[in-house]
Amino acid sequence: MTAEAALLELAGVSKRFGRITVADSLSLRFQAGETVGIVGPNGAGKSSLFAMIAGDLKPDAGDVRFDGRSVLRLDPATRCRMGIARTYQVPRPFENMTVFENLLVAAYRGGQLSRLQGYTVAARILEETGLSEDANRPAGRLGLLQRKRLELARGLATQPRILLLDEVAGGLTDPEMAALVEIVEQVRQRSVAVVWVEHVVHALTRAVSRIICLAGGRLIAEGDPQEVLANPEVKEVYLGVDIGA
Ligand SMILES: Nc1ncnc2c1ncn2[C@@H]1O[C@H](COP(=O)(O)OP(=O)(O)O)[C@@H](O)[C@H]1O
Ligand SMILES: [Mg+2]
Repeated sequence: MTAEAALLELAGVSKRFGRITVADSLSLRFQAGETVGIVGPNGAGKSSLFAMIAGDLKPDAGDVRFDGRSVLRLDPATRCRMGIARTYQVPRPFENMTVFENLLVAAYRGGQLSRLQGYTVAARILEETGLSEDANRPAGRLGLLQRKRLELARGLATQPRILLLDEVAGGLTDPEMAALVEIVEQVRQRSVAVVWVEHVVHALTRAVSRIICLAGGRLIAEGDPQEVLANPEVKEVYLGVDIGA
């Protein structure tokens, strides 16, 4: 693999639901160890993009390559074992399992681990994401913020090479946000690519080196966070919504 080879590459990916276009010939590249933000109005196709990368949704056209190899025919579980992890905008834990058990399941889903290795990974992620005190609570009894935190933790527990975060920061206080940005930075330092969809733009700009703006499944702008957020077309697609930049 050369230095320029992307960890994840989308080539001309298109997807429509009836008359709605969620991806319009999208070509994107993500490198190991880089943190990228994705912004765009509701319905832009951000979650659908993650679904096509993780294998939950099949593109109509184009290719998704991980480590130079097409993953289009691989199911989500296989892609997860290869190192592709996504979180869901609406958290999806196993409600009746404890937080720790949820992390164990995720750790085993991410790769072939011995019992001890699984426990070690789950315990480390518990600590890293500030969930230690909730370790033995059923996931179904967590409040929204802790559920968001668990969603992030479940992604991390699969020990991904690329982590796709779908709006994990909504509703966080400033200190919680700072802690989240810190976690993302630690993960990045382990050469993981982090792709983060978020409406809380001021948090994103602290955490990412590049921002991609999507609208109607199209790439509107891509590059330096401040430049992208100052781009007139980007402002236009938000229709005067204060994006907090
Ligand atoms: N499975 C589906 N069937 C039909 N329409 C869908 C489906 N998934 C998403 N959509 C529609 O596609 C559009 C883009 O959705 P989404 O990718 O969730 O956008 P975003 O995450 O940027 O808000 C929305 O209008 C949504 O209603
Ligand atoms: Mg979404």
